[in-house]
Amino acid sequence: MSTPVTVTVTGAAGQIGYALLFRIASGQLLGSDVPVRLRLLEITPALQAAEGTAMELNDGAFPLLASIDITDDLKTAFDGANVALLVGARPRTAGMERGDLLAANGGIFGPQGKAINEHAASDIKVLVVGNPANTNALIAQHSAPDVPANRFTAMTRLDHNRAISQLAAKLSVPVTAIEHLTIWGNHSATQYPDLYNTVVNGRSAAEQVDEEWLTGTFIPEVAQRGAAIIKARGASSAASAASAAIDHVYDWVNGTDWTSAAVVSDGSYGVPAGLISSFPVRSADGEWEIIQGVPVNDFSRGKIDASVAELAAERDAVRELGLI
Ligand code: NAI
Repeated sequence: MSTPVTVTVTGAAGQIGYALLFRIASGQLLGSDVPVRLRLLEITPALQAAEGTAMELNDGAFPLLASIDITDDLKTAFDGANVALLVGARPRTAGMERGDLLAANGGIFGPQGKAINEHAASDIKVLVVGNPANTNALIAQHSAPDVPANRFTAMTRLDHNRAISQLAAKLSVPVTAIEHLTIWGNHSATQYPDLYNTVVNGRSAAEQVDEEWLTGTFIPEVAQRGAAIIKARGASSAASAASAAIDHVYDWVNGTDWTSAAVVSDGSYGVPAGLISSFPVRSADGEWEIIQGVPVNDFSRGKIDASVAELAAERDAVRELGLI
């Protein structure tokens, strides 16, 4: 068995944390032979709840769980961290303007990025789940100038998985029949799930569905799935979000030929360099790479540009607030 990997989870007492931690402890984040040391970061009032979750984790008697530390201190949380899952965020409350939301999250992700810069292990990999995820990741990345920018990512894997599931149901095929699906842009209502490059049983997915379903049903239903879950469940997506976070990090560490992740743009596909935007990506040797040469038709171009414009506006807003 290898040496334990230190995994920091913020917002550990929240509902995603509750679903996520047990899967990490069971070996699903990194691999079934990799022991983990868990560091749970919470705000002070939630420390007791995090203790309760840790009690349950201990009660799982997970063979791969080497230790659990619970803290409200950033240095302790990120000291020697190899993987950081930044889940805790400030939600938008009634009457809150976008600027207020970005400023409140800047107060969380700026200091966390700084603590990662100062205390994390040199191979740190960061996944931001807490919304607005892409821009929170941008803030954290700018606060960590000594960490390679490509170690900061934001989660669009839940959108990716949702899109695969909906397409599989539409075509009555197993999810494993669907390849090369891409979510482009922001993890928000402007995200673009691209079926023009998706392949199902060797044929273009876009050719197997009618245009009205693609534009009028599929795209809006993928984007609004989170709201549909809240309506049905009375609470926001948690286990599926945790599952997507597991998928994202597992593939990052262990490699994949094609998935969607929000990574720092190098200018590919006309996305301004530096924005953290979702792309088709592959991973090898623990590094994401944006897949090149994916055809972008006029319809896709318009959708990608609209989502990227939103990301650029968020970047400009946090720049104005002095957060990056
Ligand atoms: P939750 O409200 O159940 O839990 C959030 C936890 O974060 C709370 O325990 C809170 O005390 C903690 N927290 C707040 N500020 C913190 C700080 N500064 N440091 C450490 N912990 C802090 O929320 P839930 O359902 O677990 O969701 C977490 C985030 O994930 C939300 O921002 C949500 O919008 C986002 N999300 C993102 C998805 C994606 O696809 N990227 C999908 C679903 C949710």
